[in-house]
Amino acid sequence: MKTETTIQGLTASLSPARSARKIIGFVPTMGNLHEGHLNLVREARKLCDVVVVSIFVNPIQFGPNEDFDNYPRTLEQDSHLLADVGCDIIFAPTVEQMYGNKPRLTNISVSEITNDLCGLQRPGHFDGVAVVVTKLFNIVQPNFAFFGQKDYQQLAVIRQFVRDLNIPLEVIGVPITRAEDGLALSSRNGYLSEENRKIAPTIFQTLKAAEQELHQGVALAEVLENIKQKLTQAGFIVDYVEARTPELQKIEAFDQDVVLFIAAKLGNTRLIDNLQIAYTA
Ligand code: PAJ
Repeated sequence: MKTETTIQGLTASLSPARSARKIIGFVPTMGNLHEGHLNLVREARKLCDVVVVSIFVNPIQFGPNEDFDNYPRTLEQDSHLLADVGCDIIFAPTVEQMYGNKPRLTNISVSEITNDLCGLQRPGHFDGVAVVVTKLFNIVQPNFAFFGQKDYQQLAVIRQFVRDLNIPLEVIGVPITRAEDGLALSSRNGYLSEENRKIAPTIFQTLKAAEQELHQGVALAEVLENIKQKLTQAGFIVDYVEARTPELQKIEAFDQDVVLFIAAKLGNTRLIDNLQIAYTA
């Protein structure tokens, strides 16, 4: 496994694979890797000849009061984990390497689906993701790129601009990896106090209970209200509890497949999760 920190170095490392028309798989991350990230790499390993993982904490997707400076940077530990799951090349550029020192005048902004859910609390966040992911796609030029359904809205935004801009690659969505108690794995789980870590699985429990209620015929609005109440009782500050179609359109009743979305704060830690529920008539 190689680690490249410059665009030039990465291009040189990938050149033999490109000449030999090998299938290149790409997993973008911000590092501090856990089993959720590693499962994306395992998925890439299955489908591709060469697997590239980027580790880059992207400043332009963090809001002014978010955790950019404190975001955990654990490159050495990440390298060991990636070697174990068969990553071929780590791309770990500096901010300067990615953004240079001249001003960036180009933005990539996906409308509609970003003015909702996490986009409301985090203005500019998805633009920052779209810009960095596009830059990384242009640098790596993969055949397949892998993203987690944990960040469902992010995955939808990426699918959208890849389609709108004819970016020549296929986006693969990978199911959420959870801890044994159901908590969706996240680098931010490390911020939780011991006590809050015990409360955190309530999010997934409320989603599973909601699934049951929906199958029993409880109205969608009531189901969402029940989730909010349970989370508030458990000590969360609820940001949103929403239902959307898998394409992120508004939905009033459980008369088609639905995705339930939760964002809630526990202490200072904002957690997100979602669950897709299939409709069977
Ligand atoms: P990061 O939060 O490091 O996540 C990298 C990838 O891992 C994303 O596609 C995310 O959805 C996926 N992931 C995280 N936790 C997961 C889990 N429990 N199960 C399945 N997949 C999981 O998302 C980002 O970085 C950044 O926004 C990025 C796309 C790299 C752009 O900067």
